[in-house]
Amino acid sequence: VHIEPIADHPELIPALARWHLAEWGHKSPARTQATAERRLRGHLRTDGIPLTLVALEDGRPLGSAALVCQDMRTRPELTPWLADVVVDPGLRRRGIGSLLVRSTLAKARELGVARLYLYTPDQERLYARFGFEVLERTEYRGESVVIMRAAP
Ligand SMILES: CC(C)(COP(=O)(O)OP(=O)(O)OC[C@H]1O[C@@H](n2cnc3c(N)ncnc32)[C@H](O)[C@@H]1OP(=O)(O)O)[C@@H](O)C(=O)NCCC(=O)NCCS
Repeated sequence: VHIEPIADHPELIPALARWHLAEWGHKSPARTQATAERRLRGHLRTDGIPLTLVALEDGRPLGSAALVCQDMRTRPELTPWLADVVVDPGLRRRGIGSLLVRSTLAKARELGVARLYLYTPDQERLYARFGFEVLERTEYRGESVVIMRAAP
């Protein structure tokens, strides 16, 4: 399994956008396949934020994760964020999500990020394994979430 920037694989944008819609479309009803693809086309860089990393095996995408400047409109003062971590539903619990988190942290470190944030409704344990600490528990878009922070 390789981790590469989506900048090197723009042809994978439609597949990643489908995952994003399937996981989070209900939270952002305005989001469509087209808007999800447009968001990802804004991630075609390797040396700055926003960017997306993709896990690949034999050219096939297994999952992806992003670094973005803003992810929570109620917390504009916090930046940047680890966001959009997703693994193909048929390939979960094999370590691919962990590999993506580790790789995104390494990329953040490379970019000089001192503090990285995320929020999650249900994956606190996964992120805690990588040094993310709970900053706050709050409600966001109708669900209980935890905001976490790590020094990459
Ligand atoms: C969250 C998500 C990205 C995790 O991806 P993943 O590839 O399943 O992650 P991992 O395999 O690294 O870890 C998941 C679990 O599998 C376990 N695991 C990892 N490798 C394993 C293996 N070889 N055999 C059995 N279990 C394994 C991990 O210990 C972990 O367990 P725990 O967190 O319940 O303690 C994935 O479930 C997903 O896409 N969910 C939907 C989108 C989402 O919720 N994203 C996060 C938003 S904050």
